Amino acid sequence: MNEEFCKFFFIFLLFRPFRLTEPLIQGKIETTREGGDPIRVCDIIDKKKNGLALTAGEIKELVEGYTKGRIPDYQMSAFLMAVYFQGMTEEEVFDMTQVMLHSGEQISLDQIPGIKVDKHSTGGVGDKTTLVIGPLVAACGGKVSKLSGAGLGFTGGTKDKLEAIPGYQTSIPKERFYEIVNQVGVSVVGQNENIAPADKKIYALRDVTATVESIPLIASSIMSKKLASGCDKILLDVTVGSGAFMKDLEQARKLAQTMVDIGERGGVPTVAMLTDMDVPLGNAVGNLLEVKEAMDTLQGRGPADFTELCMEMSAQMLWMAELVKDHDEGRRRVERRISSGEAYEKFVEMIEAQGGSRSFLEKKENFQRAEIQESFVAREEGYLVKMDTKGCGNASMLLGAGRKKLGDTIDPDAGLVFCKKKGDYVQKGETIAKLYTNQSSLLPDAKRMLEASLFFGAQKPEKDPLILDWIGGTI
Ligand code: URA
Repeated sequence: MNEEFCKFFFIFLLFRPFRLTEPLIQGKIETTREGGDPIRVCDIIDKKKNGLALTAGEIKELVEGYTKGRIPDYQMSAFLMAVYFQGMTEEEVFDMTQVMLHSGEQISLDQIPGIKVDKHSTGGVGDKTTLVIGPLVAACGGKVSKLSGAGLGFTGGTKDKLEAIPGYQTSIPKERFYEIVNQVGVSVVGQNENIAPADKKIYALRDVTATVESIPLIASSIMSKKLASGCDKILLDVTVGSGAFMKDLEQARKLAQTMVDIGERGGVPTVAMLTDMDVPLGNAVGNLLEVKEAMDTLQGRGPADFTELCMEMSAQMLWMAELVKDHDEGRRRVERRISSGEAYEKFVEMIEAQGGSRSFLEKKENFQRAEIQESFVAREEGYLVKMDTKGCGNASMLLGAGRKKLGDTIDPDAGLVFCKKKGDYVQKGETIAKLYTNQSSLLPDAKRMLEASLFFGAQKPEKDPLILDWIGGTI
C-alpha cells in the first residue's frame, strides 16, 4: 500500500501542471495571471516584439521578476530591445514607472515645510546646474533637497563634482539631510541605493545592450527616481543636440512630454524645458573645474550661457514653489541674490554643512592642481562652426575626468576649459581649450578626440537659442 502510494506520488510530481513563480527551464519561466492562467515571459516579449501593448500585470511580472532574479538577463535584454524598436503606450510607460518606483524606498520630505521643487537634467557636457541652482534658490527662500547620482556616462555626475571638494560628504543620515535643508535651505546628497533598485538593475543592462536611447525607457527610468524622492513638483531640463541623448528637437519634445505626462498622472506637477546641448554648457568640463565655474557664476562672473540657464531654471523653481507671483519676479529675485553675494555665501554654507571648508574653496590654486596643464591650439584659422559635444565630453573623460566603465575612479583635477566656442573666430595657433590631467600618457588620445570634435569654416554659424521650448505648465 505504502509502495503504491509512493509510486503514485512520484508520477504525480513528474506530471503535475506547472503553477510556479520560479524559473523552470530556460525561456519557459512561468508565472500566473490573476485568473490563474500561466503567463510565459517569452509570450510577453513576443507581444511587445509584435508592437502590442502590455497589461500592467505583465509589466509588473517582468520588472519584478527581473529585479528579484527570477528572469535572466537574456530575456530582459530581448524585452528591452523590443521596447527600443516598438516603443510603449502612455499607459505602459506609466505602469513601468510605477513598478520601478515601488521596487524600493520612497522618501518622505514631510519634515521640510513648503513646496519642494526638484530639478533634473537629462544630461550633457559641462552640466553643473545643480551646483548653482541649489544655493541660488535657497538664497531666494526656497528649500532644495536633492538626491544626485554619480555620472552614468562620459562625464562626472553632480555627486562626483561635490565629492571632488575635500571633506564633502554625499552620504549622510536622513535626519541630518532634513536638518541641513531646514537650516541652510539646500542639501545635495548621493542617491540612496534603495531608490528604485529595479531601475538600477535595468539601467546597467541597458548600458551594455545598446538600449539606453529609448524614450519610454529613459522617461520611466528618470521619473521613477524623481517620484520616489518625495518632491511636490518637478522641473526637467531636457537637453537636445550632439551632447545629449536626444539629438533632435522633435525627439526631445516627445521625451519631455512623456515625462510631464508621467509626473501629472502621478500627482506631481511637472514642467520641462528643452535646452541646447549642441555645445558644451559653460566653458569648464571636469569635476573641480566645474565647481570653480559654478562658484564664479554664483558671484556673477560665470559664462553667459550657463549663467542664463541657471537664472531661468531658478526663477521657474521659485515660481513653482509659489514663492514669487510669476517667472519675471523670480528672475529679478535671483539676479539680486547673485549681485548681493548672498547666492555665493549660500553655496559656501551648503559645502560647510556637509563637511567641506571655505578655506579650500577660496584658494584659487586648489582648482588648478593638475600636474599637466596644456594649451590645445588651433591648427587652422576660421570660425568654430560646429562642436561634437559628446566628443568634447569624451576628451575630458580621456583626461581622467569621467568613467570609461562603471566603477572607474575619477581624477577630480582633470578636464578641460574652453577659451573658444561655437561661433568664435580662431586664429591659427590660438588656444581653443586648456587641458588638465595628472597623467601625461592620457594626453595624446584626449587631444586626438578633441581635434576630431571641432569643425572650422569660413562662415560665422547662426547662434542657437539656449532655451528651445517649454512643455507643461500646470503649476
Ligand atoms: N538618466 C537616467 O536616470 N536614466 C536614463 O535612462 C537616462 C538618463
